[in-house]
This record gives sequence, structure tokens and C-alpha cells, in this order.
Amino acid sequence: MSLRDTFRRDQVFAPLRPGTRPVRPGQLDTGGKHILYMEDITVSFDGFKALNDLTLYIKPGELRCIIGPNGAGKSTLMDVITGKTRPDTGSCFFGQTMDLTRMSETEIATAGIGRKFQKPTVFPEHTALENLELAMAGPKGTWQALLQPVTGQQYDWMAQTLETVGLLAQKDQLAGALSHGQKQWLEIAMVLMQKPRLLLVDEPIAGMTRHEVERTAELLQSLAGEHSVMVVEHDMEFIRSIANTVTVLHQGSVLAEGKMQDVQNDPKVIEVYLGESA
Ligand SMILES: Nc1ncnc2c1ncn2[C@@H]1O[C@H](COP(=O)(O)OP(=O)(O)O)[C@@H](O)[C@H]1O
Ligand SMILES: [Mg+2]
Repeated sequence: MSLRDTFRRDQVFAPLRPGTRPVRPGQLDTGGKHILYMEDITVSFDGFKALNDLTLYIKPGELRCIIGPNGAGKSTLMDVITGKTRPDTGSCFFGQTMDLTRMSETEIATAGIGRKFQKPTVFPEHTALENLELAMAGPKGTWQALLQPVTGQQYDWMAQTLETVGLLAQKDQLAGALSHGQKQWLEIAMVLMQKPRLLLVDEPIAGMTRHEVERTAELLQSLAGEHSVMVVEHDMEFIRSIANTVTVLHQGSVLAEGKMQDVQNDPKVIEVYLGESA
């Protein structure tokens, strides 16, 4: 058995071993080393492999950056995790027991995986606070959520979350009137209303001012620890400013992974990615 094999989920899958305590389905079990296990994932579109035998692990509380040239498979990777795309082969587990390839998108969101898409999709005609109320209603929520009275506890949670993303002073402003960067933060706050254990963020700083970029770096760093955070981003300066561990995707596979300073000196990476943008 190789070193890599010792990390595989099925090698450390305690509940399958006789005599160990089973975990209730739907309850996140992070008793293992990782919170997310993606192993040997392949996704084909008409024979083209958008993901090709991809293996990737995320630890509880870690901030992981995913970089790679256009078309490398970064968004497809997030689509597999959130159940939007089903892999042809391979396994994808949240904690030790939740098989994401067999769960619906709603079930996955409810289980604790939140995704912030690239384009902000806030409700412009509602205030920042109302946007959080709508988000709190969950994946099936509707505007009728606004007719329900909010409990003191819920209000505190919304206010605390707005403070986390730096928008408490804007709570009564219409979302449509917020700056582009503020809309992005509001949408992160909306995802946080579901208390995700794993937060997926696709290209958060596109179109932001320099100041907004710095605030976003601080925000994502502050969210790690309590959440696992996976950030897809092109901007190398930004990645350098926040990254602990970087995974470089290329042609649907992991080309390199490790500390930013090691990865950026890896000749393979320089050739396919850093060289291109330098
Ligand atoms: N639904 C789809 N149908 C066909 N090809 C797709 C589809 N989604 C993605 N692809 C292709 O898969 C590759 C990876 O895409 P994507 O994951 O969006 O890359 P990235 O986010 O790294 O730019 C690209 O070549 C893209 O054209
Ligand atoms: Mg993409």
C-alpha cells in the first residue's frame, strides 16, 4: 500500500469496520482526518474529460485555494461537490458517511455545503437584512419568509453575520444600491445563514476595487477555522495573500499541491499556468 493509499477514505472508513459505532445518515461525521474526500473523480462531456481521475481532500477548518488555467475543471469540481454534476466514476464524500454523489443539491446544501457563485444573485429590491431573512428560509425559501416574524435569536444571528462581512451599517439599504464588492459580501453572508461546514467560493474578487479585494482576503481568512473554505480564483496576488495550501488543476487533474511558495516554483506549474500569466 502506497503512502497515498493510507489517506484514502475507504482505508480509514471506520464505520465499515466491524465493531465500530455507526453514524446516523445525514449527520456530518468528521471523525476522520478530512471533511471532504474526492477520489478518482472523472466527469466527461461528450467524451471530453472535464475532470480526469481527480483526487482531493479538504481538512476541517482549512482555507484551500484552487487555481488553474481556464477550462482546467475548477467550476466542474464545485459542481460535483454540490451535486449539480454527477461524476462518471469516483467517489465524493462529505465527512466519513455522506455520499454526495447520491444526494440531491438541496440535501447537500442542507447537510452543510454552501456555494457562492461568481455572479452575485442578491435580491436587489430587498434590504441587506431582508436578503438574509430570505436566505435563512433555506434552499426552498420564498419571499413568504418575509411575512414570518423573526425571533430575537434569528435577528441576532443575521446582525452578527452582517457584522462578520462588514455590512452591519448597510443593513437597511436596498441590496441593489450596494457596491459590487458589498453585493459579493452580502451573498457570502446569505450562504453563511445556513451555517455551512464547507463554503465554496467561485472567483470572489472579479471586478472588485483594491480595497474590496483586501477586505475579501481578510473575510475569507476569518471564516476559515470555523468553516472549511474552498476558493477558486485566478488572481495570483490574491491567492498569495490568503493561501495556506494551493491546489493547481490542469486538464481536469491535480497538477501540483502544497504551500504557495513551493507550488509557484514548481516547473510544471510555471509551464502551464504561472508562466502564462507572468
Ligand atoms: N456542461 C458542459 N458541457 C460541455 N462541456 C463542459 C460543460 N461544463 C464544462 N465543460 C468543459 O469542461 C472544461 C472545464 O470547465 P470548467 O470546469 O468550467 O473550467 P474552469 O472553471 O476551470 O474554467 C472546459 O473545457 C469546459 O468547456
Ligand atoms: Mg470556472
